[in-house]
Amino acid sequence: MNVKLSNGKVIPVEMHKVRIVQKVNLVPVRRRLEAIKEAGYNTFLLRTKDIFLDMLTDSGTNAMSDNQLAAMMVADDAYAGSESFYKLVDAEKEILGFNYVIPVHQGRAAEHLLAKVFVKPGDVVLMNYHFTTTKAHFELAGAKVLELYTDEMLNTQSSVLFKGNLDLQKFEDAIKKYGADKIPFVRMEATTNLVGGQPFALRNLHDVKKLASKHNIPVVFDGSLISENAYFIKMREEGYADKSIREIILEMMSLVDIFYLSGRKSTSVRGGLMATNKKEYYDRILEWLPVYEGFATYGGMSTKEIEAMAVGFREMTDVNVAGSAPEFIKYFVERLIENGVPVVTPPGGLACHLDAKRFVSHLPQSQYPAGALAGAVYIASGIRSMERGTISMDRDSAGNEVYADLELARLAVPRRVYTMSQIEYAVDRITWLYKHRDLVKGLKFVEEPRVLRFFFGRLEALDNWGADLTKAFEAEFGPNC
Ligand SMILES: Cc1ncc(COP(=O)(O)O)c(C=O)c1O
Repeated sequence: MNVKLSNGKVIPVEMHKVRIVQKVNLVPVRRRLEAIKEAGYNTFLLRTKDIFLDMLTDSGTNAMSDNQLAAMMVADDAYAGSESFYKLVDAEKEILGFNYVIPVHQGRAAEHLLAKVFVKPGDVVLMNYHFTTTKAHFELAGAKVLELYTDEMLNTQSSVLFKGNLDLQKFEDAIKKYGADKIPFVRMEATTNLVGGQPFALRNLHDVKKLASKHNIPVVFDGSLISENAYFIKMREEGYADKSIREIILEMMSLVDIFYLSGRKSTSVRGGLMATNKKEYYDRILEWLPVYEGFATYGGMSTKEIEAMAVGFREMTDVNVAGSAPEFIKYFVERLIENGVPVVTPPGGLACHLDAKRFVSHLPQSQYPAGALAGAVYIASGIRSMERGTISMDRDSAGNEVYADLELARLAVPRRVYTMSQIEYAVDRITWLYKHRDLVKGLKFVEEPRVLRFFFGRLEALDNWGADLTKAFEAEFGPNC
């Protein structure tokens, strides 16, 4: 919740108290240099013992509530017919309103099943923007992924409040060009992960549904950050200020044919779920569930997580829960802007994004500026961010580099995990780094996997620039910071 202080400043205040904590370490800068080298300048390959603030992702890392943990204790571990599953069905029906529910082990498992059941070679899958695993699954099924984003989506210095909107003209053009029979569905991602966690408007979803229905194209909704997108609709879209998060979610869901989510985000657990009102879709997906995931009442999830997800669905509709990460992110982004650091605006739903094309503007995309920036942030602060740029794209079938639209270093703000002083620390060290950005040079691959290379790929710093950055840092803060 935002509160106004007596000096007029507005700050986000936590609407929870901390009762269980995890110790973190801030290892000295020399160790950070060693650690990032050992990790091949890939922040995915760092170990927790070397990380101070883990801002890699909000996936599976949100703080759970006391009620979620309590629910885990009463889980019914029955292989089939688990009562925990029926509690999840009740919660889903109450919050989303679908009759048929399919649990899966996480979001990409839902994408795998969507690809298996609905996508054929030669198809064109339309979406407001891709996510890495989404694209991989649909392309592996032989389809082309076509993103129908508005031009504003790629403007990192924008004041447009719904940059995640799907461009309706491009949608019409795609239907004309490829034919509706080649389009298995149109997918809307609630707060577009790779381009700054930007939401779409409910008006836009209504328009997408109208056009899709005209051509019998199902609407698929990736609701991994559904409560955050609903929060932005409440805060930013005309006509929704007085609606509850629950009402907004139900209105969104009335426009959706197949819903799926990574439960690791809005519902703060480790799992996933698919839901629909169409029995035919349910039957076709269910057929494959035991092959890839598990029986219909657990689908690859632990029953403990299923219990916690049921609670998480209800809790995410509390406006203070839905808004907790967005308000912290806004604060983080605004503090960096005050210091002149280039970040993506407006602030989005899952992270503060540093705009590497402007931050390290001297680096060409062929030297992976976002990856270099993520490495430099770690050296300067012990904070783990994630590269969301060209390293996160795979090469094309001819082996050519595919340059990302945006080069971002993403500092995720997991829900209810970090405090204001930790955000202030992050702002300070990133500002220091910006002042020393000339020391940051590029990266080159030394081990490069063919698929989703960002997970396991290893890189090297050109001219050993990490050592120069470490020296500059030590000169200012001493060896123990
Ligand atoms: C929008 C979106 N869709 C799908 C996924 C994949 O979900 P998971 O990581 O649970 O497999 C993610 C993960 O971050 C995501 O952000």
